[in-house]
Amino acid sequence: MNVAIGLLGCGTVGAGVVELLARRQDKIAELTGLRPEIKKVLVRDLDKPRAVALAPGQLTQNPDELLADEDIRIVVETMGGIEPARTYMLAAIQAGKHVVTANKDLIALHGLEILEAARAAGVDVMYEAAVGGAIPLIRPLTEHLTANEITDLKGIINGTTNYILTKMTETGADFADALAEAQSLGYAEADPSSDVDGLDAARKLAILASLAFCTRVRLEDVHVQGIRSITAADVAYADELGCVIKLLASGRDRHGVLSLHVGPALVPKHHPLAHVSGSFNALFVRGDAAGDLMFYGRGAGSLPTASAVMGDVIEVLRSLRLGVSGRATRMILPDKRVAALPDEPVRFYMRLTVADQPGAFAAIASIFGVSNISMETVLQKRAKRGQAEVVIVTHATPPHALAHAVEGLRALPHVQAVNNVMPVEEDPA
Ligand code: NAP
Ligand code: HSE
Repeated sequence: MNVAIGLLGCGTVGAGVVELLARRQDKIAELTGLRPEIKKVLVRDLDKPRAVALAPGQLTQNPDELLADEDIRIVVETMGGIEPARTYMLAAIQAGKHVVTANKDLIALHGLEILEAARAAGVDVMYEAAVGGAIPLIRPLTEHLTANEITDLKGIINGTTNYILTKMTETGADFADALAEAQSLGYAEADPSSDVDGLDAARKLAILASLAFCTRVRLEDVHVQGIRSITAADVAYADELGCVIKLLASGRDRHGVLSLHVGPALVPKHHPLAHVSGSFNALFVRGDAAGDLMFYGRGAGSLPTASAVMGDVIEVLRSLRLGVSGRATRMILPDKRVAALPDEPVRFYMRLTVADQPGAFAAIASIFGVSNISMETVLQKRAKRGQAEVVIVTHATPPHALAHAVEGLRALPHVQAVNNVMPVEEDPA
């Protein structure tokens, strides 16, 4: 029996879905007893060249051709953005259609509303592709690991920034060129500032942390810093210090108090996350029973993301076949407190531009002394025109003490800029 699918969007991910579905259609029919077929594809521009061949009449600009078509049982949303994607998704759910989406923006902001609507309508909503591209993360957290109390999440969950930082490290590419390459490879969001400013990773962390820590994490609970301020100089100093720079997302649950951060960090070259390159993502998960797990794979791109979308479509087909669709139960999600800053001491890297004058270094050292922060490594390079660049790595320091010291440094007449302050990752325990 055929099952008609409506596809919202046919860009990087949507085209991957069309291609993969065509490639695996017979196998899926064998495995599930149902044969998925894309009936209609909604796009903005009918004349735009497409990466995949579609039958005449398959493309439309009219959402009602999908949403009001009773024949269409599954809607796959690969449009992106909040509106009109949210309205279309809710309309599909209310019309009794199952929904598969790759849209982390929507799930991070309106996930509860959408899942509750799906529960009320008795349909499935699945979003494995929203986080980590091809890597299975959502189902492991919601199914396979639910017997665990999960305490820690840490990893690289944005392909675009990882691609940019990898290119800056390995080839000396500059930021803008590396971003343009990531865009041409289809990794970046429609507005790539959500990648480079850390928002995309923050949205994904909000989704993962909600599932892992069994609570409702709001986007504003995540402390976010992007990679725009990282320069070739930081990349070179990190290298000299035996590290690479990565945009890390981390979430912790310490007895019901959460800390949630996205930001650049120095990662020692022998750390497993240092070897996660290009568009690859990786996530460490620590559970009280399972111990440490690491998930690794392609975090962005057409076919890797389509792999996750199609995995969800096949799961929806299996449920349809077995007559067990819409099994979602009402979730009871306790609120948890979110800490403003993590209180665990970590080492910090900072790069200062200082006046190349007698007394400058003594003044800087005195701020560290007063703040009771000990310096582990100091690199001083002469820059230009009376300015020197000083790079300091501290011993493990509580973040609030470091923040206080940075205020003191900024107030010094000798210090012209505190350019970047980043944690230095320790080896995993
Ligand atoms: P994309 O290449 O920009 O494709 C978006 C598609 O949606 C285009 O076909 C566009 O039509 C269509 N569209 C957008 N707004 C529309 C509207 N208002 N009405 C009708 N059609 C509309 O985006 P993408 O990279 O495939 O990403 C899609 C979704 O997947 C996003 O939620 C993204 O966050 C998520 N995602 C992407 C990746 C990745 O690696 N790219 C990975 C995981 C998740 P036109 O083609 O006519 O412009
Ligand atoms: N823009 C996203 C990234 C796509 O670069 O990771 C995958 O979610």
